Amino acid sequence: MYAFHFACYPELMRILIVSDIHANWQALEAVRESFDLCLFLGDLVDYGLEPGPCIEWVRVNATHSVRGNHDHGASQRVVINGLNGFRYLSGVTRMLTFTKLGEPDRRFLAGMPITKYLTINGKRILMVHATPREPMDEFGPPDVDFWRSRLEGIDVDYVLCGHTHHPYILNIGRTTIINPGSVGLPRDGDPRASYAIMTDQGAELRRVEYPFEKTIETIQASTLPDRAKEMLAEVYRHGRLITGRGNGIGK
Ligand SMILES: [Fe+2]
Repeated sequence: MYAFHFACYPELMRILIVSDIHANWQALEAVRESFDLCLFLGDLVDYGLEPGPCIEWVRVNATHSVRGNHDHGASQRVVINGLNGFRYLSGVTRMLTFTKLGEPDRRFLAGMPITKYLTINGKRILMVHATPREPMDEFGPPDVDFWRSRLEGIDVDYVLCGHTHHPYILNIGRTTIINPGSVGLPRDGDPRASYAIMTDQGAELRRVEYPFEKTIETIQASTLPDRAKEMLAEVYRHGRLITGRGNGIGK
């Protein structure tokens, strides 16, 4: 059973919601919003090659965080042998991620809880990287029937989740699902960094341009295989993998 963590905030607030940063410092740096509270929904590492400043930013700025499947895998030194698509990219970039993480970084990634409950101005919020059923690793599409089954027994006003790298807001009865998309590796065909802002007026999905060619420069300067460099450059430039390379979501 997963441990639940509670925290309460009595006042109205401007909340920045970020997820799936994936070690893309250029993208994270471009998210320049004022906020009272920052909530991070997991996947700080893999794919991008600048985990250090991203971990530090989350450590300093995120009031609450939950662990993503990539945070878990990288901190536990799990090796991925993927042949195609994003699983392939996960595998090859994780080997470099291992070399870039110090012991404090691994402890930070491993120390993020898997789920977190908050109460803000009387609204109950569940933070989870993927879904309440599989908190770190279940793809949750913007589908009413899918989410209705995942919300059984969950009494909250908001579920905040990431993992899909596709942003959406979905209302299921009294619960609103907010997926802010991915800051550092959008896969919905829009290469801009994706995040969400939540206030007492409701939630809003936002996008911001960032200098992705600088991110690509760090990839090109690395020891990644040429195939991985090409694929990552495609995703950073186009917000998706080009058809034919395998565009599997999941890992
Ligand atoms: Fe992710």
